[in-house]
Amino acid sequence: TVADAPGKEPTQRGVRVPPGVTVFDAASWNGIAIDSTCGGHGTCRKCKVRVEGGRVPLTQHDVRTFSEKELADGWRLACLVRATHDLHVDVPPLTTRPKAATVGVGRQVILRPAVQKRYVELAEPTLSDQRTDLERLLAAIDDLELTCDLAVLRRLPKVMREADFKVTAVVVDEELVEVEAGDTSAVRHAIAFDLGTTTVVATLLDLDTGTPLAVASMLNRQQPFGGDVITRISATMMDPDALGRLQEAAAATLRELADQVCAEAEVDPAHVYEVALAGNATMTALALGIDPEPLGVAPFVMTTASPPTALASDLGLALHPRARATIFPSLGAYVGGDIVAGMLATGMDRDKRVRLFVDVGTNCEIVLSDGDTLLATAAPAGPAFEGGAIRCGMRAADGAIETVRLEPDLLAEHAPVTLGVIGDVEPRGLCGSGLVDAVAELVKVGLVDASGRYVPDADAPGIAPALADRLTKVGDERVFVLHRPDADADPAECVYLSQRDIRELQFAKAAISTGWTLLMEQLDLRAEDVQQVLLAGSFGSYLSPASAIRIGLVPTLPVLRIVSAGNVAGEGAKMALLSMREREGARALLEEVTYVELSDRPDFNDRFVEQLAF
Ligand code: FES
Repeated sequence: TVADAPGKEPTQRGVRVPPGVTVFDAASWNGIAIDSTCGGHGTCRKCKVRVEGGRVPLTQHDVRTFSEKELADGWRLACLVRATHDLHVDVPPLTTRPKAATVGVGRQVILRPAVQKRYVELAEPTLSDQRTDLERLLAAIDDLELTCDLAVLRRLPKVMREADFKVTAVVVDEELVEVEAGDTSAVRHAIAFDLGTTTVVATLLDLDTGTPLAVASMLNRQQPFGGDVITRISATMMDPDALGRLQEAAAATLRELADQVCAEAEVDPAHVYEVALAGNATMTALALGIDPEPLGVAPFVMTTASPPTALASDLGLALHPRARATIFPSLGAYVGGDIVAGMLATGMDRDKRVRLFVDVGTNCEIVLSDGDTLLATAAPAGPAFEGGAIRCGMRAADGAIETVRLEPDLLAEHAPVTLGVIGDVEPRGLCGSGLVDAVAELVKVGLVDASGRYVPDADAPGIAPALADRLTKVGDERVFVLHRPDADADPAECVYLSQRDIRELQFAKAAISTGWTLLMEQLDLRAEDVQQVLLAGSFGSYLSPASAIRIGLVPTLPVLRIVSAGNVAGEGAKMALLSMREREGARALLEEVTYVELSDRPDFNDRFVEQLAF
């Protein structure tokens, strides 16, 4: 329950986040502002929320902050409460006007947006003061060196006189883009877009306070052209009209989301003066109408790493007519602007620790930092994590099994199989995190061996009979039944995991672990040197760290070193809008990061084969 402002009717919002994420981050990632000056580090004691359910542990900070009665009523510091189960949280309205915003993985951003507003009360012209309207205005804001285009000049005389020369100048990065009547200085907005191949997310920001006002997401309307970047590039190679249609589909997606967030927050689209777009290199090229063909064929060349600043209207958006579009630069054809934004949001370039960033998806991007040097690469993991090429695979939507627990104890009273299903409905299939969990658990209970094969004899001692019974066949193939719609159902009608599905996962995880292994060798690091692994992206964030370790998707480390980073591309896009300094930081990453091409390494295949085992 979110009380947006004192006196305003609270609203109910439902959000879904990876287990273990703090309530503070969960709110921030979903456009809900919670008071803070410490950025979620447990020191400012401002992030007070009331948690219902009573099963939330107390910390020393909570005890020092709240009275006994408040603690009993469920008051907690949001940055110290981890969401490990469903929670109902009351979020009070903001009490402070922030000068900084908390974005990404605990990043504090001092507010310095490119969009500025200046309210000025100008002296009216007289016969002894015949300065031009523009001179009069620019003289009042002479700390900025502004350019101004014809569209503004056309409106200037009328607006100035109708408003008795009391006007607000709207400036975007040293360009005067608008002159508004009266004092509108507190009204300035921007939209951050995470343009994913599958899902697109928009966050509407209040640039005056740094707070997110609304978040919306939807499937990319380019889906009918294919589920991954390669099929969409192929579409443009086979049909000369496809590029135009893909560009329009991207524009339609961005437009629909912009309309949604503006409507939800009751913001006039004309008051949105800037957008930022973080997407992979193919999505960025298609949104800009640039031919993506060279990205799809060796030697995988981009048209440009840093697209110039465009207008939001170039992306098909109907916001302020002069609203700018800042497009994130890409490091390479397969380490795009979404990953640069992710690096910004996780502070990969500012942390002295050894950190590994892994965005798991069809194309898996990997960044490794030893605190000094930054390396990045891409590993082709294939469609397994998206549910593609998996017999009962599906996207992470209602009915998808997302967690699997198997009970190895022969005497256990617990159910032998416990499934977590998105939407708490009848299971229909298995999504990527469920796939990783299922295989990790089958390895744990001994039904799958290290080579990835179902054991030949499921009745061997040590394997619980209730689990062994679920190992059966569909056609010629061995399968493990995860869910039976009813007791007599034929295995083919069940949700199951086949031998071939396990192979698909092995190939995907081997591609990824080969990637980080080779990067670690290049920096002379061993797995145990890694102090933090950040699992990013819409799929990676939902992975169980324990299962990811068990199948070798990430280095073998204490589980607490594996962190869900959430939608870091969107967070990076927010940072670029809130701070010019952060935006420059994103550009600087192009110089700081070395892109490593894996496909021309002679040892890649041997290493890949080594990494297939669980
Ligand atoms: Fe500062 Fe929680 S955000 S204590």
